[in-house]
Order: sequence, then structure tokens, then C-alpha cells
Amino acid sequence: QWGLQTKWLAKSILHKETITSTQTVAHELAQDGAEEGTIVIADEQTKGRGRMRREWHSTKGKGIWMSIILRPKILPQDAPQITLMTAVALAKAIESFLQPEQKDSLAIKWPNDLLISGKKIAGILTEMQAEQDLIQYIIVGIGMNVNHRAEDIQEEIKNKATSLAIATGENWPIKNLIQKVLVEFEKTYEEYVHNGFSDIKAEWESYGFKIGENIKIRTFHDCWEAPFLGIAEDGALLTKDKDGNKTKLYSGEIDWFTV
Ligand code: BTN
Repeated sequence: QWGLQTKWLAKSILHKETITSTQTVAHELAQDGAEEGTIVIADEQTKGRGRMRREWHSTKGKGIWMSIILRPKILPQDAPQITLMTAVALAKAIESFLQPEQKDSLAIKWPNDLLISGKKIAGILTEMQAEQDLIQYIIVGIGMNVNHRAEDIQEEIKNKATSLAIATGENWPIKNLIQKVLVEFEKTYEEYVHNGFSDIKAEWESYGFKIGENIKIRTFHDCWEAPFLGIAEDGALLTKDKDGNKTKLYSGEIDWFTV
């Protein structure tokens, strides 16, 4: 039915027309012992969620709304690497749908936003279940805006959201895009598991938005300006704290209206 070209990823697929959130359902499956590579896909989510407790609009047939169950043998503190690894896989998939002259407009905004010409086309939500130093499972949620026209984008986010259709001027069959995303994900995840994070980190940095520049950092409680110095070996953002001391940032994000 899905015509997948993957080796082990998505051998088990739960596909629903309407779902609350593919994340929630994937958590349930993982708790019941679902194996690595199991995925949950929905045509529409009624309670899609994003990072920082935001809601994620997931209209029927307009995008990719899917979650992947992983069971990597890594330490919980290295889990942010999975988000960055996923962003690299998504960047490669999206790049393959763009015209050569558009490829430079694609960027990854730390940690997890895929941008085309500075507007968000896709996001990643990584959620982990761990006990002490053991990861039980990780759920990687991928949301990608595909067939939204400009008028489908909510007024409040018009200046910061886009879709593949808006960027390319044509509609795309969702199933084909899912196939491509899964193939790239499988390749990148295998590279990560076998060779570690450093090659992926270099690839991430090649797409990195505002590396070397001043950015505005936003965490749950705080907001300040600092230089974006690069990515650490564990996936953290290297920057300076409010007192100007070098620091690693594990949660938070680069503010949209960055300096
Ligand atoms: C973000 O950019 O804040 C992350 C967005 C992640 C959205 C996806 S859509 C599939 C999966 N299910 C959810 O409820 N969220 C993720």
C-alpha cells in the first residue's frame, strides 16, 4: 500500500484518517512493546502538538503528520542528537523536491525547524521515555506543511510559516513525500548508529541558520541576545549566557525575530 523502499523502517505502520496526535498514539504503542521503526501516520490530527507546549495545526491531507518509534542504545543526555539527525534527514528529503536554484534557501533553525526562505516548512518533536540511564524509547514526531496554499496559513503565523506547495508552486502527493522522508531517515539514522554524531553534526552545520551570527535565544523563562557559536558534540547549541560566559543550551530556541 505504501510502496516503501526502506529496509527495516516502517515495516509496521499504523495509519488513521483522524487521530488526536500521532505522538500520543505512538507512546501507547511503544509502552506496549512496539518495535523500533514502527510508525504512526494520520491524515489529520485534532490535537497535534509542537514544542514548548504549542499546538500544531494538522489539516486533513495538507501535510505529513507522523511519528516514529526508536529504541537507540544511547544515553538519555545524547537524545538531542536524534532531533538534529532527523532535521538533517528532513533537509535532504525536502532538498530533493526543490529546483537547484532554490536549494540555498533551505536551512535548519536550531534545534528542529526546517526553513525555506526564512519561513518554517517543517518541525520535529522528540519525546523520550527513560529510566535512570536507560532509554526505553524515543518518539520522533515529524510535521511538514505540504499542500497549504497561502490562504490556508493562519493569519497569526503568515509571516513565519510556509509549505512545499507555496515554495514550489505545485501540489505534491503526500504518499510519495512520506516514502522519501522515510528513506532519508533510515539512511541518516543508520549512519548515526554506526558512525556516531560527528558527521551528522557537520551536515547539520552546513544547513545551520545564523551560525556565527548574533541570535536572540528564547527559553521558557528568559530571552537574551548572544552569538551562535556552533553545535556541541552532544547536540547542544554553543553560545554565551547573559554574563557573556560560554555555555551550552539544551532547551529553548532561536527567536523568530532574531537580530
Ligand atoms: C514543532 O516545530 O514545534 C514540532 C512540531 C511537530 C509536529 C508533529 S506532527 C506529527 C507529530 N504529532 C504531533 O502531535 N506533533 C508531531
